[in-house]
Amino acid sequence: MSLLRKKKVALMSGAGARHSELRKVLGASDLVMLGLGAMVGTGIFVLTGVAALQAGPALAISFILAATACALAALCYAEFASMIPVAGSGYTYSYATLGELVAWIVGWSLIAEYGLATAAVSVGWSGYFQSLISGVGLHLPVALTAAPGTNAAGEVTLFNLPAFAIMMLITAILSLGIRESKRVNNVLVVVKVVVVLLVIGVGFFYVEPENLTPYAPFGVSGVVSAAALVFFAFLGFDAVSSAAEEVRNPQRNLPIGLIGSLLICAALYALVATVATGIVPFADFKGVEDPIALVFQRADIEWMSRLVSIAAVTGMMTVILVMGYGLTRVVFAMSRDGLLPQWMSVINQHQVPVRSTWTLGTLSALIAATVPLSALAELINMGTLVAFAIISLAVPVLRRTQPELKRAFRVPMAHILGPVSALICVVLMLNLAVETWLAFGIWLAIGLVVYFGYSRRHAKVENLYD
Ligand code: ALA
Repeated sequence: MSLLRKKKVALMSGAGARHSELRKVLGASDLVMLGLGAMVGTGIFVLTGVAALQAGPALAISFILAATACALAALCYAEFASMIPVAGSGYTYSYATLGELVAWIVGWSLIAEYGLATAAVSVGWSGYFQSLISGVGLHLPVALTAAPGTNAAGEVTLFNLPAFAIMMLITAILSLGIRESKRVNNVLVVVKVVVVLLVIGVGFFYVEPENLTPYAPFGVSGVVSAAALVFFAFLGFDAVSSAAEEVRNPQRNLPIGLIGSLLICAALYALVATVATGIVPFADFKGVEDPIALVFQRADIEWMSRLVSIAAVTGMMTVILVMGYGLTRVVFAMSRDGLLPQWMSVINQHQVPVRSTWTLGTLSALIAATVPLSALAELINMGTLVAFAIISLAVPVLRRTQPELKRAFRVPMAHILGPVSALICVVLMLNLAVETWLAFGIWLAIGLVVYFGYSRRHAKVENLYD
């Protein structure tokens, strides 16, 4: 039965809540910025090209479809975040509702999502960075440009130095504390959002309407498969809820942050997709790694193309920052509950879980530098979808089991929307490759060994009930 033991929500959020050791410095607009920081990156700057080949100009619809799937999950996250404003996001929510084992699975999935996403985006950053410096004639030795065995021309590569370096730099920023990380994030987010708005505003005048017809050359299935791909572009909004313990008035600010940043992103992405496919015939995106920069080369606006590359580089930095932040906070919460070793939640005088920040950051940096990540990208989607599906189901469950809890934000028609959201997640999971299911199975098996070998016996039982 101990597998089903739960955390007492009242202890976590009510009058009996222990005083949090983390600083409360984030407001609603900071959370929207965190959300944009986590989302606008590889998805829009890199994947747009590949996805356009699948959907054609209707890619804008794919973005809206993917956003709808995320929005349902975001509503569920918002209800939980407004009720249980403690660090740990989906992990903490399921501990309160579905019991320890499910919470462990969610936490373990989130570690896969955030950990691999930071590494994967570091690799994407490295690509854009190298193309930027090559513009001024600078080149790294080939051996240091990529992970082993990833060079298309067959040259020997050993270590992706830029990916390693950026991951370590961001880890250093995270170790300075949330206030400092927030400042860096806010500045970088402004840069990328302004550039994305320029892409839309300037690009609009260069759209050739004939490029937009036929609008959906590959029909509904093309639009849906592209949606499954660009789902990646919205990953990260859930990291916002892992900030709960550091938010002022979380009951009001968390739902605004989650839903607000998702809506803004959906609008920006759909417009960028329309401008991009309106300027460049979609078939021309084949094999292009910097599709948005290409759009402005085609329109003959060199300065915009350069600006887009700079925005992509800065944009991806904030994605790594927020995902890295989410990772450390989930691990912090799991360690504080005893499910992971105690040293991972030790905080320093600046209230930062500094040891786990450096350990996890270094691990991600090494993965980014040495593992070819293309095959692992889907694993990131898988980890996220598992967490989303469980959280979506947990909302109606908790409504039934603990109806008395104060919910500052409530999902409308939760008993219908919760299961619908979970179902959409499952459909998307079924669209992922067999290898992804296999890899995720292995990750889960390792997780279960750790759980039964360590965590179950070390869980701090004073806050739990059977
Ligand atoms: N949403 C993030 C990106 O597109 C993961 O880079």
